[in-house]
Amino acid sequence: MISVTIIGYGNVGSHLVKAIYGSAYAKITQVYSRSAFSLPHTMDHIACINSFDDLAEADCYIIAVPDDHIKHVSAQLPFTDKLVVHTSGSVSMDVLDPKNRQGVFYPLQTFSKNKDVDFKEIPICIEAAQADDLELLNKLGASISEKVSKITSDERAKMHVAAVFVNNFVNHLYHISEEIMEEHNLDFSLLKPLIKETASKIETLSAKQAQTGPAKRNDLQTIKRHTNQLTDDTQKDIYSLLTKAIKETHTTNERKL
Ligand SMILES: NC(=O)c1ccc[n+]([C@@H]2O[C@H](COP(=O)([O-])OP(=O)(O)OC[C@H]3O[C@@H](n4cnc5c(N)ncnc54)[C@H](OP(=O)(O)O)[C@@H]3O)[C@@H](O)[C@H]2O)c1
Repeated sequence: MISVTIIGYGNVGSHLVKAIYGSAYAKITQVYSRSAFSLPHTMDHIACINSFDDLAEADCYIIAVPDDHIKHVSAQLPFTDKLVVHTSGSVSMDVLDPKNRQGVFYPLQTFSKNKDVDFKEIPICIEAAQADDLELLNKLGASISEKVSKITSDERAKMHVAAVFVNNFVNHLYHISEEIMEEHNLDFSLLKPLIKETASKIETLSAKQAQTGPAKRNDLQTIKRHTNQLTDDTQKDIYSLLTKAIKETHTTNERKL
């Protein structure tokens, strides 16, 4: 069994602690967070620390802090030649201080501290500067997930842009939709079956094939009515830009046919 220390007990750190706690390949020895925190009672044997000086020997240190702090945190670690990995989708592996052996352990999912996830379903993208370390990360990943992939920093950066479109942007569109419904005293939950069906269609159709709506059909009068109804300028801009993009995508397809 290998030993793992988690540095950062936020959205990702807390879920990693739970997942690795159930791993047959790894055990968590310490969890670090700047602010005071406690672990669930079942994990009483795991040390909670607030100072890098208290870090003990481990086979792997996973830094799960905001992207902009990874470099600084890795530079502060008071040891050398250990395997130190981060969990970011968009930060290159070599941002980690080279005094330690660098790696990445990126779980491709959206995490919120109080929302449970099934880690087995979550793709884990791994990268390491040394072959032995890649193998360790592969085994660690496979002990908590059924989907572990070796992905370079360049590939990960591109994948992260794609992930922002399907997760962060789509979620913001939910928010706009929620605001529109609330503004007119309508129940947002009426739209939930539509949200679920839109997500489930992608299992059997390509996104292009699944597209419906006024922009795809080129229903210009409906589009005009929609833009007139919107009162917020940013919402109008987003509606117009997405309508333009959908029209272009589907007009190009028709020309090709
Ligand atoms: N959330 C996601 O959906 C998601 C998904 C995949 C990957 N990631 C990646 O995972 C990493 C962590 O994201 P997160 O969402 O878990 O962030 P988060 O919830 O904001 O948690 C950040 C943790 O880092 C600590 N921290 C912040 N600045 C620090 C510093 N300078 N020194 C030491 N500790 C510091 C925070 O401690 P304090 O409470 O003391 O500030 C907190 O425990 C990021 O690289 C992110 O890109 C996130």
